Amino acid sequence: MTRLPAHVAIVMDGNGRWAKMRNKPRLFGHNEGMEALIKIVRAASDIGISYLTVYAFSTENWKRPLEEVSGIFRLLLVYIERELAELHRNNVKLRILGDWKNLDPAVVKTLENALETTKDNTGLQFCIALNYGGRNELVHSVRALAEKAAAGELKPEEITEEMISQNLYAPDVPDPDLVIRTSGEIRLSNFLLWQSAYSELVFTDVLWPDFTPECLEKAITEYQSRSRLFGGARS
Ligand code: FPP
Repeated sequence: MTRLPAHVAIVMDGNGRWAKMRNKPRLFGHNEGMEALIKIVRAASDIGISYLTVYAFSTENWKRPLEEVSGIFRLLLVYIERELAELHRNNVKLRILGDWKNLDPAVVKTLENALETTKDNTGLQFCIALNYGGRNELVHSVRALAEKAAAGELKPEEITEEMISQNLYAPDVPDPDLVIRTSGEIRLSNFLLWQSAYSELVFTDVLWPDFTPECLEKAITEYQSRSRLFGGARS
């Protein structure tokens, strides 16, 4: 593929509706969502995408019933247990974006181990946004800069866009070129708000459990047909 997006970010939406259509509990949909994710990570790595970020759990998802919340975290553990060896074999480097250090200690321990195992890998960087909120991320960044300003190390007028970017969760990860949202919802829902300023957005009606590597390729083809001007004029 030519003109590949370096960074693809995905809002994996529609697990609940997928399950409801089959008269199954919502967690059944999340489980199928995990299966879809496994295939998409493999496909992204095979296609040669450098960064893949997925929205697994938002700062707003705590409003869901406890059973669903704990089920999603359980699935995350299942995912890591099942996939870590293969991710490592495929040279994938795992990253976590969000306020994850205060989550359940079992989750934190599993994630720390997975991050440590894959830290030197040089292939696809697979970022899981977990307990993530774009506004929350900006608050963290702004606070870090405000602390420097309060300590007299930085003048407010010296604050730049780069400094805000440098204090986000993963400053070395480039902004997403392509943001995909499944399930027909047309909004960002607090996902990568700062980083998606010039991202190409692709919305598909496909529910996340039905999102296949072919759907990913279709979204990339759509991306490749767009002209990206970043605010410049058409030549
Ligand atoms: C949105 O669908 C999906 C989520 C909030 C959770 C995503 C979780 C997974 C794909 C499970 C596996 C995750 C990992 C990292 C292994 P929804 O529940 O809002 O669907 P709905 O809008 O149809 O109700």
